[in-house]
Amino acid sequence: MTTKMNDQTIKIGWKAPSNIALVKYWGKRAGQLPVNGSLSITLEKSTTTTFLTFSRKLKSGGAIEMEYFFHGNKQEKFSEKILSLLNSLIAELPFLTDFRLVIESENNFPHSAGIASSASSMAALALCLVTMEEIVTNVYLPEADFFKRASTLARQGSGSACRSVYGGIVSWGKIASIRTSSDQYASPFPVNSESRINHLRDTILIVSSEEKSLSSSSGHAAMADHPYWEGRRVQANGNLELITDAIRNDDYQLLSKISENEALSLHALLLSSSPGIVLLKPNTLRIIEEIRRFREATGLDLLFTIDAGPNVHLIYFEDQREMIMPFVSKTLSQFCENGTWIDDKIGTGPRLLTPKVEL
Ligand code: PMV
Repeated sequence: MTTKMNDQTIKIGWKAPSNIALVKYWGKRAGQLPVNGSLSITLEKSTTTTFLTFSRKLKSGGAIEMEYFFHGNKQEKFSEKILSLLNSLIAELPFLTDFRLVIESENNFPHSAGIASSASSMAALALCLVTMEEIVTNVYLPEADFFKRASTLARQGSGSACRSVYGGIVSWGKIASIRTSSDQYASPFPVNSESRINHLRDTILIVSSEEKSLSSSSGHAAMADHPYWEGRRVQANGNLELITDAIRNDDYQLLSKISENEALSLHALLLSSSPGIVLLKPNTLRIIEEIRRFREATGLDLLFTIDAGPNVHLIYFEDQREMIMPFVSKTLSQFCENGTWIDDKIGTGPRLLTPKVEL
């Protein structure tokens, strides 16, 4: 889009997906930089749609003027979070104080379903901000720079959001074997076009849809003086090296070994924080047992991962879906709240929604 900014009101929109990490970012340094590298699968169906409408203020500068709507309603808690993010970005995006901003956001997945809404929502907002920057400054970035900038801004809203700016498999955090990697922004991880990894499925088993008792900010903060801090950093960076080998070599046994080690380590760190944080539920453990039993009995390529919550992501390949779905509906659904699961899969990344220019 090459709209030139005059005095009109401009509305732009992006739809951005959530992601699920196989190697977990857990613990941060100043500037929302990660203690360790991470790697995730971008989802296809679980998305946030955000529209940003902006018009020039009569008098430039001063405080940011912003109204925020979530599913059409004013939402104080989110609104404060967004305003504080925008304030922290003024040095990078000085034009923010020259416009009246209206932000309208919607998720297409249920709240507290084990799908990271901060990842998709902060990615969608960051993409809108970079599009706005292009229009306001009339400087249009090459595509790779556009997404790098959006990833850098998204990171400042929520660390994991920097990975949602790309489709497929995405890494974040400087590691030796990924030349393009950085702590500042995420990068798409190249996958052979023949690989089954391009056809991953994620069935999210909803053990509990209760709102999380832990915000990820307090979870990251609990890592600061954690007795296993250094051990975790070494483990995660080692796991990131190993998982990239597993993906490059289509080694699914290694992929599941590392992913499950990461999910269980995340919860081991939570349990051994002080005071200990227990997010797993009895049915989470039943599901893990059943998945391992089923894998042992069938030899199918499936693995589980868990975020900072009780719900389990069952990851497998499209070509084995027919054999896996009866296991989900007959066995695993017994341990899900109201027998509920969400079917998702690896996705292609965010999408610019037709920009609407109101003169
Ligand atoms: O992006 P945050 O601050 O919500 O942290 C995300 C942390 C995990 O979801 C547990 C792991 C990850 O890498 O996504």
